[in-house]
Amino acid sequence: MPTRAYTIALANLKGGCGKTTISTNLSAACAMRGRVGLIDADPQGALKHWVDWQQGDSATTTALPTLHAEHANPLDNLLSAQTQNDFVIADCPPSLDIAITQAILTHCDFVLVPVLPSPLDLWASAQTIDIIHQARTQNPSLRAALVLNQTEPKSAMTRAMQQAIAKLNTPVLTTSVRRRAAYRNAVVEGVSVFQLGVRGREAANEIQQILIEVLPQ
Ligand SMILES: Nc1ncnc2c1ncn2[C@@H]1O[C@H](COP(=O)(O)OP(=O)(O)O)[C@@H](O)[C@H]1O
Ligand SMILES: [Mg+2]
Repeated sequence: MPTRAYTIALANLKGGCGKTTISTNLSAACAMRGRVGLIDADPQGALKHWVDWQQGDSATTTALPTLHAEHANPLDNLLSAQTQNDFVIADCPPSLDIAITQAILTHCDFVLVPVLPSPLDLWASAQTIDIIHQARTQNPSLRAALVLNQTEPKSAMTRAMQQAIAKLNTPVLTTSVRRRAAYRNAVVEGVSVFQLGVRGREAANEIQQILIEVLPQ
């Protein structure tokens, strides 16, 4: 393991595209490989609630990520988490806090941009991609990819979506996150899809595939 944790940010200035859902489940996948620090940079604090809930469950036997919230500033939490873990996952805030997202991206290895499979959502992600380009002026090795979230099994990529993706000029992960009850059930139960047994198996498989695509080759 390198001295600094391998750091993945989930960023999209638009809300509701799956940043927190993917952060929680990806952190659970990382926890099978090493120590994981989680950063909740969204002032709404949904991720913090999930971690608190999970850690209050004494029946949990799997390794859990640690939420780093010792400092008031998410960037300070990120920097301290990077010295104490093998992986760090940062759940970035929506548009009100562009400066926080910018600061975090200058300290990450990979930024994943979840997008819903619609041209509207893809168009709305252009500003997030601009922020990634700005971050690369200070962090040239920052890797980035879009990940389609809430996809349906038979929905083909429309021409409008293909054009919108081409315009963003950012790779798209081969694995997409399907719309599944398991993701909603996991949140309701305060767990990750890995703790849902057979109910979460397909979701857990796709999250593992996403992690493999995002880890260094
Ligand atoms: N793949 C999915 N399948 C089913 N529900 C999902 C999926 N991804 C996200 N959701 C639901 O969509 C809503 C928004 O997701 P969330 O992760 O909170 O987005 P963000 O953090 O970007 O605002 C939540 O209610 C979440 O449970
Ligand atoms: Mg969120």
